[in-house]
Amino acid sequence: MAAPLRVKDEGLEGRAEPDAEALLVDHRVEHAEATDPAELFHEATKYAPYNLPRTLRAYRAYPAWAEAQPFELVPTKRYPDGVQVALPDPGKARRSLSWVLRERRSRMAGPVAPDLRETAALLAAGFRADGEGRRPAPGAGGLYPLEVYLVAAGLRGLGDGIWHYDPYGHRLEQVSDRVPDVSAWYLADGTFGIAAGHFVVTAVLPRLRIKYGARGYRFALQESGHAVQNLLLRAEVEGVSVTPVGGFFDDKIHDDLGLDGVDEVALYLVPFGKV
Ligand SMILES: Cc1cc2nc3c(=O)[nH]c(=O)nc-3n(C[C@H](O)[C@H](O)[C@H](O)COP(=O)(O)O)c2cc1C
Repeated sequence: MAAPLRVKDEGLEGRAEPDAEALLVDHRVEHAEATDPAELFHEATKYAPYNLPRTLRAYRAYPAWAEAQPFELVPTKRYPDGVQVALPDPGKARRSLSWVLRERRSRMAGPVAPDLRETAALLAAGFRADGEGRRPAPGAGGLYPLEVYLVAAGLRGLGDGIWHYDPYGHRLEQVSDRVPDVSAWYLADGTFGIAAGHFVVTAVLPRLRIKYGARGYRFALQESGHAVQNLLLRAEVEGVSVTPVGGFFDDKIHDDLGLDGVDEVALYLVPFGKV
């Protein structure tokens, strides 16, 4: 039996609550030829009666896996050999939530560098963990797959190069003192090259896969949206122009950041800077 693909299944269209029995029958007779990898992925990672044994395999094994861990997992990478820069406390946002929800816009990042407090405010809004490990953005199962890097060239308070944010220590750790050619990262070449800095949000996918299997990939995308939105909102408060960017050459970024591009993948770029 071919993999169940309920693609463009007109028999189920508009039916509010398909019953399990109907799904079981329909997917067998209706599995259409799907060529779109997104459709295939989405179908393969649905929670549905016909594929629960497969999609929930990792989920069911997870408690035993977690129990067997000899140490408490702290979901972040560390670069302890690099220069460590403690970030200042960003302080409270000076605007109300309703103001920032109304005013937020994607704005062309300018070349004027924010100071270290402003940069820290953006990072903390998206990613900083509190003393109990909780984050400002929700994370499926509290597994927190996201990492965030910063490319600095002339940023106040930071040497040039690639930095990694430690969300538990609220500090930046230097990954490399080499400044990559960031304008080659963007599909819209030339548009974002002048930005004072660039955030790169990645996901370490095995952190989710151990519990959610392939469905964890959905969660990584969703979580990056949560975290980046927080960062964008704080940027509006601080007067730092930002654009969330999905149009980039993935493997160019992976190569420049030293990521394998399989277990850890770039999800979002945020060029930033004042005008
Ligand atoms: C997932 C996602 C990817 C995006 N990718 C790009 C991009 O590659 N280049 C770009 O200029 N803007 C990008 N944007 C910004 C959108 O163009 C922008 O959010 C949209 O025009 C609405 O404007 P607003 O953010 O000011 O409300 C992206 C936004 C989202 C949510």
